[in-house]
Amino acid sequence: MTAENNQHRDPSNRVLIFDTTLRDGEQSPGISLNKQEKLEIAHQLARFGVDIIEAGFPITSPGDFESVQAIAREVEGPVICGLARTSKQDIEAAWNAVRDAERPRIHTFIATSDIHIERKLQTTREDVIGQVRAAVAQAREYTEDVEFSPEDGSRSDVEYMAEVIQVALDEGATTINVPDTVGYTMPAEYKAMFEELFRLVPDLRKATVSVHCHDDLGLAVANSLAGLEAGCRQVEGAINGIGERAGNASIEEVVMLLRTREPSLSLWTGVETTEIARTSRLVSRLTGYPVQPNKAIVGRNAFAHEAGIHQDGVLKERTTYEIMDATSVGLRSNSIVLGKHSGRHALRKALEEMGFEIDGQALNVAFKRFKEIADRKKQVTAMDLEALVTDELREDVAGFTLEWFEVESSSKRSPHARVGVTLPDGTEVTGSFIGDGPIDAIFQAINAATASAPVLSEFTIGAVTEGQDALGEASVVLELDGATGAGQGVSTDIIDAAARAYVRALSVARARAQAPEALGLPEPTP
Ligand code: KIV
Ligand code: ZN
Repeated sequence: MTAENNQHRDPSNRVLIFDTTLRDGEQSPGISLNKQEKLEIAHQLARFGVDIIEAGFPITSPGDFESVQAIAREVEGPVICGLARTSKQDIEAAWNAVRDAERPRIHTFIATSDIHIERKLQTTREDVIGQVRAAVAQAREYTEDVEFSPEDGSRSDVEYMAEVIQVALDEGATTINVPDTVGYTMPAEYKAMFEELFRLVPDLRKATVSVHCHDDLGLAVANSLAGLEAGCRQVEGAINGIGERAGNASIEEVVMLLRTREPSLSLWTGVETTEIARTSRLVSRLTGYPVQPNKAIVGRNAFAHEAGIHQDGVLKERTTYEIMDATSVGLRSNSIVLGKHSGRHALRKALEEMGFEIDGQALNVAFKRFKEIADRKKQVTAMDLEALVTDELREDVAGFTLEWFEVESSSKRSPHARVGVTLPDGTEVTGSFIGDGPIDAIFQAINAATASAPVLSEFTIGAVTEGQDALGEASVVLELDGATGAGQGVSTDIIDAAARAYVRALSVARARAQAPEALGLPEPTP
């Protein structure tokens, strides 16, 4: 029985999807999204149909505050949530950032494990209870929708945590989220912990109880499912599983697990699964974090069959080796095709059909880029347009801009690259380098021009679509002065795509190294 055939879904088995791509996800090393990029992701999350968007941690920086505020003002549909520690200023900042949303939520948290209380917070269990009481009461003065999380819940003494949760409920918290902050728990333990909490705190049945799992041992999705089996009805996670350290539970995996196994689990969500692939691509491009090829649901091999026996089976009957249909996650061929004679109007219409509302100067820039690509490529498809428009969104990341480059590559001589780069103060500088290969040469030439000495930690290059004239897409992650930067670039020329990605990653790392607070990095929790 498929999800669609199930006419008798029990409303009490509906699982709320709480997306924290823009908060916990953005805490991944090297990721730094600007306001426009966050808005774009939030709009796509709304199209995907998540129930709650955790848009950021407003106290951490003016940039994060403004992004959360913009999302609260513009994005319709999901509840918009802001994270806050238990201090007055945190909760006030979270409220001021989300207050204009149709449905605002404040999410406040404090650690309840002894190791965090004693070593990190350097306080006592009693003090934590007092902070929870005050924080939830303050948040409830602002809004009826208040979530409380006992951080490091899975390593907390369950009886003490039950006491803390009771206080949060008494003060009016409507959602209680118990995180496996360090990804330490195992499914049976996490399930047993929730069963014990439901027993110790009968009032929990009146609240929404939530899971939030990190993937340090690769168990985030399994643990999330275990929590749902114990009676939780909200799952927190991030697209592509990004997040602190090994990341969060991957939203697309949780969603497709519930959908594919709905006949056994009877749990269901309200999301539009056909938006999964697009959401994943957008997050990957804007964060600069590539998706591993064999990643469940959204990896490029997730629906590929290599062995002859498998191919033969799938040709005869798809379900011999496929438990999901690729179209159900949005991996379908698309109908939009433009060519070099297509005008501005056709481009705008195609973009509108894809959900991009682009006008004025942004449309002019997109059109210019489209024409450059259409001149080199016979057909520009929806996938190309999506890559191109997403790439353009990145243009206003402050930092270096690649103005031009020349690369000479031959089998007889070492490759030579020259570049022109504009510095943040507007001056143009040049650099050149003879490298081991053309990519090495251009990266080193950029280093020479910008007087930087980063260490490249990841470089991947791929094609946006199939075919020889496909657009190239490159991702770079690098480290500079102890800070990580990630970037991605798209072009018909792979050297251009790689150089764009490199310059962006360098700009992000440089900004992070110079002013971490300006990029929304949370201060250490007091
Ligand atoms: O992992 C964690 O504990 C968190 C909390 C802030 C919910 O992200
Ligand atoms: Zn977390």
